[in-house]
Amino acid sequence: MDSLISTLEWSSPIINPAGKQKVAQQIAQKVKDGDVLGVGSGSTVYMALLAISERIKTEGLNVLAIPTSIEISMFCSKLGIPLTTLFEHTPNWLFDGADEVDPNNGLIKGRGGAMFKEKLLISSSPLNYIIVDDSKLVPKLGTNFPVPIEVFAQALLHVEAELKKLGANSIVLRPAKGKDGPVITENGNLILDCYFKEMNNGLEKNIKAITGVIESGLFIGYDLQIITAENN
Ligand code: 5RP
Repeated sequence: MDSLISTLEWSSPIINPAGKQKVAQQIAQKVKDGDVLGVGSGSTVYMALLAISERIKTEGLNVLAIPTSIEISMFCSKLGIPLTTLFEHTPNWLFDGADEVDPNNGLIKGRGGAMFKEKLLISSSPLNYIIVDDSKLVPKLGTNFPVPIEVFAQALLHVEAELKKLGANSIVLRPAKGKDGPVITENGNLILDCYFKEMNNGLEKNIKAITGVIESGLFIGYDLQIITAENN
């Protein structure tokens, strides 16, 4: 009988597949034999993994992947892409998707709840490509998506009060699908989805400074190469 890994499919319908396919192909062309890749999360990353696995098969490339989520780990296994960890390797480069990209390359990430590991990998990698279809380009962060914030459960009310002081005007405890109650992250924490009155340059650091905040999905001032379906 086939295993759950060998029959694994992407867990939800893929939005804007044509744009995602375009950037997935672009990223697959950058892979070189011997690369250690930081691999982000989301459907765009999944499509890039499919394209990379084709090159691995046809060209016999040796590549290692450091994944940012269980879902992506399982797809790497399905596609025959060996996994490693930050204990053994530093990525040569990384690719990841995003929910929003502003004109200064600021990002909101974390629709999939993997922003802590995504930020850890981006911070650990010397070269980072963000691959997005054009629907992700926004004039201002917070246009279509809230800022997700991963929070230690017992710190919930303290974090809520501090976020209000930082100008949060909407704070929602992310509900689970397929389980009663809230989403529990892969690190055992909760997620708050927040909108702020003002998204200033200090906001990411101010959120992180709250005791009980593990990480936010706000990326401001990072050195990122943005690949869009439009400009490539
Ligand atoms: C997950 C993320 C994803 O990269 C982001 O949500 C984009 O996903 P998709 O490629 O499916 O649109 O940050 O935490």
